[in-house]
Amino acid sequence: MPLPAAPTNSSGSPLRLEVQSRAGRYQVHIGSGLAEALPGLMTAAEVPARRFIVSNPTVWRYHGDRFADISAEDPILIPDGERFKHLQTVGRIYDALIRARADRASAIIAIGGGIVGDVAGFAAATYLRGIPVVQVPTTLLAQVDSAIGGKVGVNHPLGKNLIGAFHPPALVAIDPDVLRTLPRREFRAGLYEVVKYGVIASRGLFERVASGLSALFAKEHAALLPVIAESCRIKASVVEADERETGTRRTLNFGHTVGHALEAVTKYRRFRHGEAIAYGMLVAADIALARRTMPPADREALGALITKMGPLPAVADLPSSEVLEAIGRDKKIVNGRLHFVLPLAIGQCEVAPDVTEEELREALARLGLPKA
Ligand SMILES: NC(=O)c1ccc[n+]([C@@H]2O[C@H](COP(=O)([O-])OP(=O)(O)OC[C@H]3O[C@@H](n4cnc5c(N)ncnc54)[C@H](O)[C@@H]3O)[C@@H](O)[C@H]2O)c1
Ligand SMILES: [Zn+2]
Repeated sequence: MPLPAAPTNSSGSPLRLEVQSRAGRYQVHIGSGLAEALPGLMTAAEVPARRFIVSNPTVWRYHGDRFADISAEDPILIPDGERFKHLQTVGRIYDALIRARADRASAIIAIGGGIVGDVAGFAAATYLRGIPVVQVPTTLLAQVDSAIGGKVGVNHPLGKNLIGAFHPPALVAIDPDVLRTLPRREFRAGLYEVVKYGVIASRGLFERVASGLSALFAKEHAALLPVIAESCRIKASVVEADERETGTRRTLNFGHTVGHALEAVTKYRRFRHGEAIAYGMLVAADIALARRTMPPADREALGALITKMGPLPAVADLPSSEVLEAIGRDKKIVNGRLHFVLPLAIGQCEVAPDVTEEELREALARLGLPKA
């Protein structure tokens, strides 16, 4: 997959990416101290003057001070947690907007992790048939993934992310400073998605993470900034390409077929999303290894990095038959075969149309899942 040059810059000055979407172009700013620069950035992006912050009590407790000046309105705080990512919470945002008489010259500023971004983005997509949203992601996962691409939405009791819209942001402002308060496990969960980008599209990114782990966990700017920027660039270029040629976005699903199944069979309680994806990447790499389409040294490098990143929740009690069933519910299996993103090497991948249940079963066994 050919991609433009990386916007690497370790001097600490803000980086800027432009993303083209169906709804127009928007900018992604990445840099330290952006919280303070936000009013100016919003004016430049022509974000309407009445600005309603949507956040949650956790994020607001840590970082509310930084953002207090960007809005004269009371912040709308939604409860923290995936179990509140539903339509009732969107309804609470509508209530607050209507009570404050928010009109079309209003905008929502989503300050939080992927959940705040998805819920607030969906409220913005639908309130008065759509008002602008500014994404200010505060988890690593949101900074490298969910804040870019325009997908917003909520869960339904019968499934995750079933209610949604496409509502690209007016602006994305990524400040690595806010990650200082992020719990280590949450940080690590986001970092697995960074590893994913490395495997599908950038050996350089993969190596940067592998050689800079301690600086990354120490949240050092010089380490974080280029890693976030490169991840955003890959996500942006994949979602842009997908608007022209369908299917490219699928490569972002590397590790996700098995990852989603592991999350589902453990009822979304055992894994942080990224942790399940870490296992999913190992399974995909093992399938590629068995097919001899991936060099053994690259499979080893992936395994070594994931091990070095820290402990993952156990899988040895999860029967592979249940995981396979969950994959079948999630993905279409045609004649016993399914489409699967497989690595060709670190930095390169393919969408294989013919992965069999048997290949999957073997790779799950290698991971330590019992067969029954
Ligand atoms: N729209 C998309 O394209 C897309 C892509 C990937 C994931 N998602 C969605 O994102 C959600 C997961 O997002 P997430 O992993 O960011 O989880 P999250 O939003 O639940 O955040 C994780 C936890 O960290 C806390 N937190 C956030 N920022 C913090 C900070 N700076 N310091 C301390 N604590 C902080 C949150 O309050 C929360 O408790 C899922 O619902 C998923 O479906 C969406
Ligand atoms: Zn993911």
